[in-house]
Amino acid sequence: MNIILLGPPGAGKGTQASKLVADRGMVQLSTGDMLRAAVKAGTPIGLKAKAVMDAGELVSDEIVSGLIGEKLDSMAPSEGAIFDGYPRTEAQARSLDEILASRGRSLDHVIELEVDEDALVERITGRYTCANCGEGYHDSFKQPKVAGICDRCGSTEFKRRPDDNEETVRTRMAEYRAKTAPILPVYEARGLVQRVDGMADMDLVSAAIAKILDS
Ligand code: AP5
Ligand code: MG
Repeated sequence: MNIILLGPPGAGKGTQASKLVADRGMVQLSTGDMLRAAVKAGTPIGLKAKAVMDAGELVSDEIVSGLIGEKLDSMAPSEGAIFDGYPRTEAQARSLDEILASRGRSLDHVIELEVDEDALVERITGRYTCANCGEGYHDSFKQPKVAGICDRCGSTEFKRRPDDNEETVRTRMAEYRAKTAPILPVYEARGLVQRVDGMADMDLVSAAIAKILDS
């Protein structure tokens, strides 16, 4: 099964993708995570992407579609893909069709996480992750069980994303509205889109997604 998780910044795409990885053995393909890894490693792609990401704008379609193709090629055919943060433009949506078809895959569901944009700024500016294992936390919504210690790996180092400040978040949201939201009707016309209330508790969002995947 191959699915897209679609929604604005902070909608919970990464949170829900991690859950699907843990529960179903699917593979998360997050272009944001791939780009951040490239920035950290100082690769040519990372060097090009850093300033664009820090400004909250979109990296070029060619770069992100290339990353997605490479990642799919490293997966076993039996492994399902969760596209998280991709596609984000009409050109990327067309590329994804080609990328999937040329690998004998097809798209099963496009799940839109419906959220209230005003709440997203709080979600994003309060977000942090374990610097060692990447487990996600939030100042208000998901604190470690023991303060300052990662639940998953015991590390005491945490980090925040450089683009998780209010000004950049507003730009990211504007990019979503202008460039990403218009791809929904394309998938709707193919009968692929299902909507989930992304403002509900994380476990309820997960349950709603599970229901769609099991239907
Ligand atoms: P990317 O990393 O994809 O960022 P994004 O789309 O802005 O989305 P986020 O990762 O911020 O949010 P999320 O939906 O994953 O939310 P999360 O689960 O963490 O992209 C970053 C940048 O890379 C882009 O701006 C662009 O420059 C570039 N880029 C990436 N892909 C690209 C592409 N395809 N084309 C071009 N450029 C690209 O949740 C957020 C917080 O809320 C967490 O703290 C979480 O704990 C909490 N939370 C989650 N769900 C709930 C809930 N139900 N209730 C309460 N709290 C919740
Ligand atoms: Mg994310």
